This record gives sequence, structure tokens and C-alpha cells, in this order.
Amino acid sequence: MPELAAREHLRLCQPVIRSALQEAKTSPDELDALAATRGPGLPNALMIGCRAAQAMAFALRRPFFGIHHHEAHLYSPWVTRAIDPGGAAGSGALQADFEHFQPNVSLIVSGGHTLLVHVRAELEHQPLGSTLDDAAGECFDKVAKLIGLPYPGGPEMDRLAGDGNSRAYEFPRPLLRDPGDDFSFAGLKTSVRYFLQRHPGLADDPQKRCDLCASVQAAIVETLVGKTLRAAQRLKVPCVTASGGVTCNRALRRQLTDAYAQCGITLRLAEPSLCTDNAAMIGLLAERKLLHASPPSSLDAEIDPGWSLATASP
Ligand code: KG4
Ligand code: ZN
Repeated sequence: MPELAAREHLRLCQPVIRSALQEAKTSPDELDALAATRGPGLPNALMIGCRAAQAMAFALRRPFFGIHHHEAHLYSPWVTRAIDPGGAAGSGALQADFEHFQPNVSLIVSGGHTLLVHVRAELEHQPLGSTLDDAAGECFDKVAKLIGLPYPGGPEMDRLAGDGNSRAYEFPRPLLRDPGDDFSFAGLKTSVRYFLQRHPGLADDPQKRCDLCASVQAAIVETLVGKTLRAAQRLKVPCVTASGGVTCNRALRRQLTDAYAQCGITLRLAEPSLCTDNAAMIGLLAERKLLHASPPSSLDAEIDPGWSLATASP
């Protein structure tokens, strides 16, 4: 609902900036640069974030970086959390670990996108493939809806799948044998719909519902893991990374970990709180651009709701 999203952005933009500064124990004049997502995304949401950051950059006389949303996802697996001895788990400051950066194949999986990208060096990347129809998270959410789970259905399917048998029912692994790097999840969702039409009431049985979630999850996860591994081996990269909301999925994290333990490729998964969309990854990428002396965006740079990753960095 773009109109509601725009109103919420307007309502929350300034309070979020204020509380972020407070939490970081800093003030606007200590900032080196300002950044916001310039695309792709909902036009009004992009506009509100960009204009706020551009206005601050203008007032503070600092550079402004208009960041590509997917390019920022590529670097969120390189953010780590400092151990905070006095604080609660996960409360330490975020820091970038680029000392250990390696060329990689990066999987970005969320409700809106499923992308494989070859990251050759910092700020140097090439999209390999994306989904031809539904994203992996969208497939989780649509299947969840078919069996009556609330939105977003991915986390709930993950939870139910934990008590299910992933071999109970057989669903297609779309494009898994196809040599290309594209994905397609619409057919899997349709095959679940036909399956439920052939077995009315099956999803009302608690155990069968868990088995169904586990079986669908296995089809999605095997496809994601298989295609990512094949791209990594073909391109002979030493490292694979993953981010995006679906990277919170426990089976995906486990299977990626198992697959890479066997083949000598380093695996870096974004920590769950940084898998979903977040501002830390936008700030981190802006910091890298500042350090690499990349030219800042113009202060009146326009938003780009359909910005392609292929043109995101030099
Ligand atoms: O990255 P994200 O927060 O937002 C965008 O879509 O951009 O990802 C949200 C997606 C939703 O489709 C949600 O169902 C899925 O990530 N998701 C999961 C899990 N947690 C979130 N899917 C499967 N298992 C999970 N644990
Ligand atoms: Zn995202």
C-alpha cells in the first residue's frame, strides 16, 4: 500500500533520525557524510528518505551518497557486531569487517527479490541472475496464505517446518537443473495450490501441515543452495555470502553451512537482524564509497525507483 507507506515514512523519518543519533551517541556535526536509498523501491518512500538526507547534507555541507538498495545488501554479510561485555546479546556496536573481504557470489533473497551477483572486488559487481517471476520470499508468503497462515508467512512456515518431514511430499525444484543463474518460483506455488485441491483438508491436520511446510521449504531451499553453489564453483570464487529476509530461514542457513563446509568455500551469512532491510547496510556502503573516494551523488540527485544493479557502482 504505497500511500500508507509514504505517510508512515513522513511520520517516522525525523524521529528515526533523532533516535539513531542518540543511540550512536553522536550529533549531526560529527557526521562525515549523509546517505539514503535512491532506488529501487516505492517512489514516495525513496523520495522522503532522500530529501531528508539531502537537506541535512546541504545544511551540514557534507557529501551525500544515493545508495542502491541491492548493492547495500551485497555488503551486509560483512557487518559484524562488537562484543559488548556489559550489554544484552546482540547489543554491541556494528562494525565493518572488510579486512577479510574476498571476491564472492552473493545471494540476495527477500520478499521482493531473488538475485545472484558476482562481487569481484569491493564496489565491483555483476548481476548473474534473478527471478523470472515470484521472489523466494513471495513464494513462502503465497504458500503460507494458501494454508491459512498470517502475512508474512515465511517465518511461520520456518517454525512449522521445524516439526515436519521434508520428504513427506514431493514438489518441483524449479530451474535447478537449468545451467543458467535465473530462478522461478511461481510454478512451485501453483503446484502447491493444485496439490491442496487434490487433498482438501490436508492443511487442517496439524502434523500434515508441518510436513507440507517442511516439503515446500525444502524445495525452495534446495533450489537456492544448489544454484548458488553451482555459480560459485563455475566462477571459482573463494567465498559465498547471503542476505535478505529469507536468509533468516533456519533450513537455508543450515544447508548453506553444510554445503560450503564440504567444498572449501567460505560462507558469510548476514546476521538475522541485518538480513531484513535496514539502514546500517546503507550507511556501511556509503562509508566504503567515501573511503574509496567514489564521487558523491549530486545534492539534487533524483530518486530512481527502477534502478538496475548493473549500473549501481563504477
Ligand atoms: O528483506 P525483507 O525484510 O523485505 C523485503 O522483502 O524486501 O524480506 C521479507 C521476506 C518475506 O517474504 C518473509 O516471509 C521472508 O522474508 N522471511 C522468511 C523468514 N523470515 C523472513 N522466509 C522464510 N523463513 C524465514 N525465517
Ligand atoms: Zn531488501
